[in-house]
Amino acid sequence: MKSNTTWLVANWKMNGNVSRVRDFAFSLSAALMTVPSGVKLVYCPPAVYLQSALYGLPQNSRVRVGAQHCHSAAEGAFTGEISAPMLAELGVRYVILGHSERRAMGETDEMIAAEAAAAQAEGLVPILCVGESEAAYNAQKTTEVLNAQLSRLRALASPRFLVAYEPVWAIGSGKTPTLPEISAVHSYIKSVLGSETAVLYGGSVNAGNAKEILGLAEVSGALIGGASLDITSMRTIIAAACGLH
Ligand code: PGA
Repeated sequence: MKSNTTWLVANWKMNGNVSRVRDFAFSLSAALMTVPSGVKLVYCPPAVYLQSALYGLPQNSRVRVGAQHCHSAAEGAFTGEISAPMLAELGVRYVILGHSERRAMGETDEMIAAEAAAAQAEGLVPILCVGESEAAYNAQKTTEVLNAQLSRLRALASPRFLVAYEPVWAIGSGKTPTLPEISAVHSYIKSVLGSETAVLYGGSVNAGNAKEILGLAEVSGALIGGASLDITSMRTIIAAACGLH
């Protein structure tokens, strides 16, 4: 059954500057003004610009601000890290965890589960990224990879998290799985974590393919990287989400 919420998460990765982030937060807020309440949008700029995004939101904005990572400890000797209490204090409500670009830098499933628990303890909603590499996809080992990534997430309090299925080979590549493949993997993730789990798709979502991907019954939204940098693309993606509500 199609969930009654469609999540759009804009992951800006390491892009932007103070004025761009502030202006984008404002423009997204304007784009959401007349949108059905079932469409939820989370804007995730780099950590140094979280406050710029928050300052850019007009009163009553429906845009929520998210971070791209947090540490599992609340404070301490962790140079360069940011904790969940720090994010919560700013007014950040969501945090992307376990993105493949961070896994590539050494984050493990164990670390990601601890970060997620720390985020939830502060009332933040983790957006947990999972997905197989191209080699695993070609070897038809997607389920095995997901089992390993999901096993530690079962202990998290549901439904206070979102899952983003992001095949690593689809990120920034312009390639996407077929629609039946996306449906099948989303169904599998729901069968492991519970049917109420909101599973977003991420990996080369853009203005051209958002409608068909978001329209899949098992898809509860999208995590958008490159295309989210462009407000025109985001308006089209928001319109695609509106068509479902
Ligand atoms: P992409 O990135 O949309 O540029 O493929 C998605 C992501 O990495 O979250």
